[in-house]
Amino acid sequence: MEPLLWVDEALEIIDQSLLPDRILTLRLESLAALREAIASLRLRGAPALGLAGAWGTALACREAGDPAAPGYESRVRELAEALARVRPTAVNLAWGVRQVLDTLEAAAPGDWPVLAVDCAARLHAEDRAAGQALCAAGAELLREGGRYLTHCNAGPLATSGVGTALGIFLEGRRRGLDFEVLVDETRPLLQGARLTTLELREAGVRHRLITDSMAAFAMARLGVDGVFIGADRIALNGDTANKIGSYGLALAARAHGVPFHVAAPLSSVDSACPNGAGIPIEERDGAEVRGYAGLRWAPSGTPTWNPAFDVVPAELIQDIVTEQGLLAAPFSRSIRDALSRLRVPNSHRARSTS
Ligand code: MRU
Repeated sequence: MEPLLWVDEALEIIDQSLLPDRILTLRLESLAALREAIASLRLRGAPALGLAGAWGTALACREAGDPAAPGYESRVRELAEALARVRPTAVNLAWGVRQVLDTLEAAAPGDWPVLAVDCAARLHAEDRAAGQALCAAGAELLREGGRYLTHCNAGPLATSGVGTALGIFLEGRRRGLDFEVLVDETRPLLQGARLTTLELREAGVRHRLITDSMAAFAMARLGVDGVFIGADRIALNGDTANKIGSYGLALAARAHGVPFHVAAPLSSVDSACPNGAGIPIEERDGAEVRGYAGLRWAPSGTPTWNPAFDVVPAELIQDIVTEQGLLAAPFSRSIRDALSRLRVPNSHRARSTS
């Protein structure tokens, strides 16, 4: 399933908020529609958000009016930077915006609309290639008959259609391996239950759904050979922000001697962020904790805390699977070395807008 595609000057996305029961394609022709889709998680997952940032900047070039009119460049920047702020934790969103804006900087404004589309298309193709390389490297960690656990959704839907942590399982299956995946349901928005199960089923990967609170006991009772998660932002020391619940999972994995793997493209590394303390954590509406999909089970108005992400400290992470292969501890060195091998320097992100 392709979560987002640029078709005839607009972005077409699968509305992930309706999955698994309805597959609806939405055509987003304006920045306002894209902002709404991102805020309501119709389009989600860090790498997919990076592409949304890039394509959104192409929309900004169109919505900013006549490139020959005074103030065109600053209008494009304002519109694109506002888009980057819609979800603050996944660095990829601001990264996608930044990559396109940096490409435009040296060009004449009249060329911006076309250049922005070209740049977004290149980033889209690069994300696919990075996903394929990452999944090939990660599949080496799987063994026949193994049992693995994942959290949230880091599959094709969360990227340009290949996946990261979940893409590794899909690649393992393609190689003929048989193994089982335990899927955390991932409260409060149930990305694991709604999306990950769907993608594993389509690929013929054996899986069982568990509630988040069952993960530690699954490690103790069933045995788990590895935990694989994606990432929304990786700091330079390896501290990793991912869907809320990832930190608890990492602690449980450490207590049970289970290897904890992070899988992400290098576009998820924030080269301006030395450690996890600097990662902004999105807090969402309390209604998501009090209930789901119009159903409320807590008393109306019950006070809540709803951070959408948490931070896994680097010392709990076994390795980070990237398009360059496995990065090992000490991450400060392996991440720095990986960034230095990038064709387009990651320092673009140093000026990220989030
Ligand atoms: O709130 P979401 O659904 O956008 O959160 C997504 C996650 O936390 C994913 O694990 C992460 O973005 C990696 S996706 C390859």
